[in-house]
Amino acid sequence: TNRTFTMIKPDAILDGFTGPIIQQIEEAGFKIVAMKKVHLSAADAGKFYEVHKERPFYGELCEYMSSNPIIPMVLEKENAVEDFRVLIGATDPAKAAEGTIRKRFARSLGSNAIHGSDSDENAAIEGAFFFTATELK
Ligand code: GTP
Ligand code: MG
Repeated sequence: TNRTFTMIKPDAILDGFTGPIIQQIEEAGFKIVAMKKVHLSAADAGKFYEVHKERPFYGELCEYMSSNPIIPMVLEKENAVEDFRVLIGATDPAKAAEGTIRKRFARSLGSNAIHGSDSDENAAIEGAFFFTATELK
């Protein structure tokens, strides 16, 4: 068993998809270890996405992720990182496989409903960005 980190993004919360997204995550066998709702400042979003700071969409991404609340979660399942990225689908919902979370619930490439960590190392770093050690026990 291991862990990944996810955030339900502003578009999906505004569109009323929080419940169905959490349901799909649980039905896929992931346990919720930690969860909260938080409205990031632009500076916090900038810190979270620092790895993308040279990319052309960085400003837009940080503005979007701080525009409205998000729901960060730490999830547990065997092979969590890889299986969760399959569950959410391709970054661009237009290219995501049928039945994936992004295909079902995302608006666009920039507003793509959900985040999923891309490695065990980043999952740990990203989880620690939002949750204390006690919350992650
Ligand atoms: P995450 O799970 O959110 O990290 O997505 P990813 O790993 O599939 O994509 P990546 O890490 O490459 O990009 C991070 C986020 O930046 C994506 O989820 C998108 O929301 C956003 N993004 C990526 N490419 C573009 C783009 O060309 N334009 C805009 N506006 N946003 C983009
Ligand atoms: Mg990524």
